[in-house]
Amino acid sequence: MPDQPADAIVLFGATGDLARRKLFAALFHLHQRGELDLPVIGVARSDWDDDQLREYAVEAVRETVPKVTKAKAQAFAKQLTYLRGDYAEVKTYRELAKLLADAELPVIYLAIPPSVFPDVVDGLQKSKLALRSRVVVEKPFGRDRESAGELNATLSSAFDQDSIFRIDHYLGKESVEGLLAFRFANTLLEPIWNRRYVANVQVTFAESFGTQGRAGFFDDVGTVRDVLQNHLLQTVALLAMEPPISDTADAYRDEEVRVLRQAEALDPKQTIVGQYVGYLDEEGVAKNSRTETFVATRLNIDSWRWAGVPFYLRAGKCLPGSATEAVVELRRPPRLLFAGRRDDARSGVPEANRLHFRLGHSDGVTISMQAKVPGREMITQEVALDVDFDHALGERREAYERLLADAMRGARHRFAREDTIDEEWRIVDPILERSARPLPYYTGTWGPEGADDIAGGHWHSVSLK
Ligand code: BG6
Repeated sequence: MPDQPADAIVLFGATGDLARRKLFAALFHLHQRGELDLPVIGVARSDWDDDQLREYAVEAVRETVPKVTKAKAQAFAKQLTYLRGDYAEVKTYRELAKLLADAELPVIYLAIPPSVFPDVVDGLQKSKLALRSRVVVEKPFGRDRESAGELNATLSSAFDQDSIFRIDHYLGKESVEGLLAFRFANTLLEPIWNRRYVANVQVTFAESFGTQGRAGFFDDVGTVRDVLQNHLLQTVALLAMEPPISDTADAYRDEEVRVLRQAEALDPKQTIVGQYVGYLDEEGVAKNSRTETFVATRLNIDSWRWAGVPFYLRAGKCLPGSATEAVVELRRPPRLLFAGRRDDARSGVPEANRLHFRLGHSDGVTISMQAKVPGREMITQEVALDVDFDHALGERREAYERLLADAMRGARHRFAREDTIDEEWRIVDPILERSARPLPYYTGTWGPEGADDIAGGHWHSVSLK
């Protein structure tokens, strides 16, 4: 069963936002590549029929896939069927089991709010579908460490551990996975990848937009649960972990967990949370909502490799642009021969080298170096060694497409393990509950007052879209 290919896909939450923004596009791409030769059943509560779901999927594909023709989107949508059902009713699962009568190994994707997970898992268990299915669970996995543990117990009571696929779609991004290749396939970096040479690491997750009609979901979650607990900590783990001892999925996860275990829980005194002005007026946002739309914090990893190297993390909505970027700043060289050109009164030494990993749009790497300015004086200026992965490496598949394909073939490398998620919650738990309101900030700024101080007043600029 671990490697057996799936022979059906069931999409709980087929009429929802995630399906519309990501999942139909991913399924469409698989269909285009001839890798979706199986029935896809959408399940949701709306009173729809097959045609309505198909129309919805066509619209979704046309919105999210550039230059796609209607005919191609329709050809894909033909493969979809719809099951209307209440998640708490036995009848829903009985009907689903009938539709899946010929399937030996369905993949059941739960693109639904965590609050309804228990009902669905219960239904899948009672109908015995759980015994022969893989389940894919969307993040956020729980609301805090305790509820994630409970959710895990619920899932584990119904599904075999090897059949539970926990999504953090950052694990499916080529650019994020590429961090490991950069670190472990190049001898150039590994010798300097430690406290002796690295001054600090900064991870920025910025979005220029607000909730984009998802306020109903977002207001219940906030930035810490939505992206810090998972995407940002996952990125930190890949930047900071030791090399895995083999290429098995467990060997990777073992190292991730090890480094996360060495990370200290976040300190509310070293954390700033904010809420953009105007958020409270959005539809779906509670009147007096204290949900944060911005967070900046400092993470410490108490290990031989990283002790004393701050990891500055910030994430937010309605910022000056969109970018996901990790910047590794090296220590400055001593002043022996060269002074930096645009240099500061501070020290007279050249700017520190930095490695910018662009993980979102225009992914690639820029390494800033010092080069001598032509002329008699021994001064330097910064130059950039820049690689654009689109240009250098060609087309790459989107994260959700890769993850769906992985779940279909039972490949677990790019899914989060229970202990990883548990450690991530341990780290963010202290900053989840707050008595004070988040600090206000205006759209188009880098968060509230005080956010800059988190990184000692020195967040590096990132390339914005
Ligand atoms: C999702 C969050 O997990 O990631 C969204 O729920 C966020 O709020 C999205 O917008 C960002 O993903 P990406 O792939 O665009 O960086």
